[in-house]
Amino acid sequence: MKKWGIWTVVLLVLLLVGGCGQKESVQRTTPTSSNNITKNRDGSLLYIANIDVNTVSVLDTKQNKVIAEIPVGREPRQLALSPDDRVLYVTCMFDNKVDIIDTADKKVTGSVPVGIEPFGVVVNRDGSQVYVANYRSSTVSVIDAEERKVTGTINVEERPRGLAMTAEGNKLYVTHYLSGHISVINTEENQVKKVIALSPSPDKEDRKKSQGIPNTVEQFVIAPDGKTAWVPHLLTNVDTPIHFEETVFPAISVIDVTKDEEIQKERKELFKQMDVRDVKNETIIVSNPTDVAFLPDGSKAFVLMAGSEDLMVFDLTRGGNATQLVRRVPGNNPRGMVLSNDSNRLYIHNAMSHDMAIVETGGNDPYAEAQAKPNTLRLIAKDSLPPLVRQGKTIFFSGNSDEFAAPITGNNWMSCASCHADGDINGLTLMTPRGPRNVPSNVLAMRTGLFMWDGSRDDFTDYLLTVQGEMGGLTDYDPGKPLPPKVEEMFDALKAYLEYPDSFPVPKSPYRNPDGTLTAKAEQGKQLFEGKAGCIACHAGETMTDSTKAVNATGKLTTDNTKFLHDVGTVNPLDKGTKGDARAGYTNPRSKEIFDTPTLRSVWATAPYLHDGSAKTIYDVLTTRNQQGKHGNTSALTEAEKRALVEYVNSIE
Ligand code: HEC
Ligand code: HEC
Repeated sequence: MKKWGIWTVVLLVLLLVGGCGQKESVQRTTPTSSNNITKNRDGSLLYIANIDVNTVSVLDTKQNKVIAEIPVGREPRQLALSPDDRVLYVTCMFDNKVDIIDTADKKVTGSVPVGIEPFGVVVNRDGSQVYVANYRSSTVSVIDAEERKVTGTINVEERPRGLAMTAEGNKLYVTHYLSGHISVINTEENQVKKVIALSPSPDKEDRKKSQGIPNTVEQFVIAPDGKTAWVPHLLTNVDTPIHFEETVFPAISVIDVTKDEEIQKERKELFKQMDVRDVKNETIIVSNPTDVAFLPDGSKAFVLMAGSEDLMVFDLTRGGNATQLVRRVPGNNPRGMVLSNDSNRLYIHNAMSHDMAIVETGGNDPYAEAQAKPNTLRLIAKDSLPPLVRQGKTIFFSGNSDEFAAPITGNNWMSCASCHADGDINGLTLMTPRGPRNVPSNVLAMRTGLFMWDGSRDDFTDYLLTVQGEMGGLTDYDPGKPLPPKVEEMFDALKAYLEYPDSFPVPKSPYRNPDGTLTAKAEQGKQLFEGKAGCIACHAGETMTDSTKAVNATGKLTTDNTKFLHDVGTVNPLDKGTKGDARAGYTNPRSKEIFDTPTLRSVWATAPYLHDGSAKTIYDVLTTRNQQGKHGNTSALTEAEKRALVEYVNSIE
């Protein structure tokens, strides 16, 4: 009896000690930002979100070995550790939830439903709250870590993407992917206190010089001294005809974190602060900057270029300009990185080859060169995508012009994703020889009949012609002749990727009821859409366009069949039409007033609207941009009916 008594006491003590240990909270003392790769406090373990493989890899940095691959929900995009390293939170973008991993057990032990398409995630200083940016809902969810429940929702501007928190934990930064805005949330009240708008870089006479509108803003990385933050993004020049060397430029904006203002003169631009020369003394072109890492003493910053697959080194002790470029990080599509605790290594996550590259940083010696190790470490046991789809996806995100049979987009200037951001839109309208053209989404692109706003292509590989004729690339190929087989294969791969059902799921609409059903107002709109408003005449069928009917006698899609192109009164004064093109044997001329019917599935997510991006909202499409009443029977509708119709169109998925 006595013996048992003693053991009970021992057990109780053990339990108490254990219990206390759990409650004793570890406070983080450094700034943090969400990322697709993160490390634990002592730097011995790395956690990597394997974007399309639906797993999280755990890498032991001492053994240089993957020690676990943990299955999670679909499309894990970013992850964050609790300050005590015990819990890992992973956003599962296509499952609208955050998976919670117990790092000791290396298993998902729970998940929390959040908004639509969660992306960024950070944990607060003491680990009690987790913030999640919901890309499609335009909200930030606040999760109570203990209860594992959403306890608050903060409304923010469109497309919240990356998150970052100051060392003090008092401020949360939310980047907005396409607008170039950054919301500043006061974490005491969980309210937006300010919105910083990155400034456009002004037009220059020399169109080959960096200029344009800030776009694709994802990471917000606070410097170790907590005074500034670096924000990598693109600048898109919309007022000159699309050309490789004149449309999209890489940039890094610098934010004063004490005043929450952009320091405009500190922006890093190509040919200026980003001017690393090659052996011919020409500026080396880089594309798609995605992530930033600082040495802890603030002497250097490293910036990853996911498109051209490079790492740029900035010397912050000598003026803050780029001083070195590691041309080509081994592997494909370097998207995120962490620095080892001794600052000697950068671990770089390649999102397409699903492996880890390592760059020796050279530490804080200003003359030391950073150097990539030639071999990478594979992070996954098995790729989730068929090889041709993986190849196409890799090409889509690549701006590395040395890697494939043909340099799709010129001298490292851009990737498909520079305009079709993450396979979607960039919200901008670019000048083309036919007139202004709104960048279309790749969602359903292969299932909506003819291609291009004017329906002038019936075969995806003809897209080459746009690249060639209208963007200034690939001049080596005669458009009248078939492509060399190796180049043809690249387009087959791109096509396989665009067609693959998991590539671009149709975004869910935040206009619907939480259970996914239509609201009463949208139901009323649906009746009108299918009834007296007459929309169904053109926007019909599975993908809500009649363009799929533009076929020949054998049922094959053809640009010759122009019966399903329409003049809905939307011509822009700058539209020119086309005489057709060589690849189609000039059988596809288009007058400037007629357009291909676009799909309305998830149209809520692709503002602005119409071929020239001239309508900001669906309401504008039906009213201000429908003065002649050629676009549906909107004149037959009362104001309330128009609003109901708009509600329905915004709810289509
Ligand atoms: C410089 C920006 C830019 C880049 C880079 C770019 N696109 Fe486009 N893309 C556009 C624009 C603008 C259009 C609409 C053109 C038109 O309709 O005349 C378009 C149209 C398309 C379409 C037709 C969509 C439809 O439904 O009609 C597809 C598919 C497409 N792009 C895929 C790609 C792929 C694949 C790449 C990379 C090889 C790529 N794009 C690179 C801007 C771009
Ligand atoms: C005669 C065929 C036709 C009818 C009827 C029609 N549309 Fe359209 N719709 C089009 C065409 C063609 C375009 C593209 C015009 C352009 O890009 O300039 C378009 C574009 C749109 C867009 C913009 C899509 C985008 O991605 O930019 C919306 C929204 C839309 N229509 C909604 C409606 C609604 C609602 C109705 C009913 C009131 C309607 N349409 C009736 C042919 C039609």
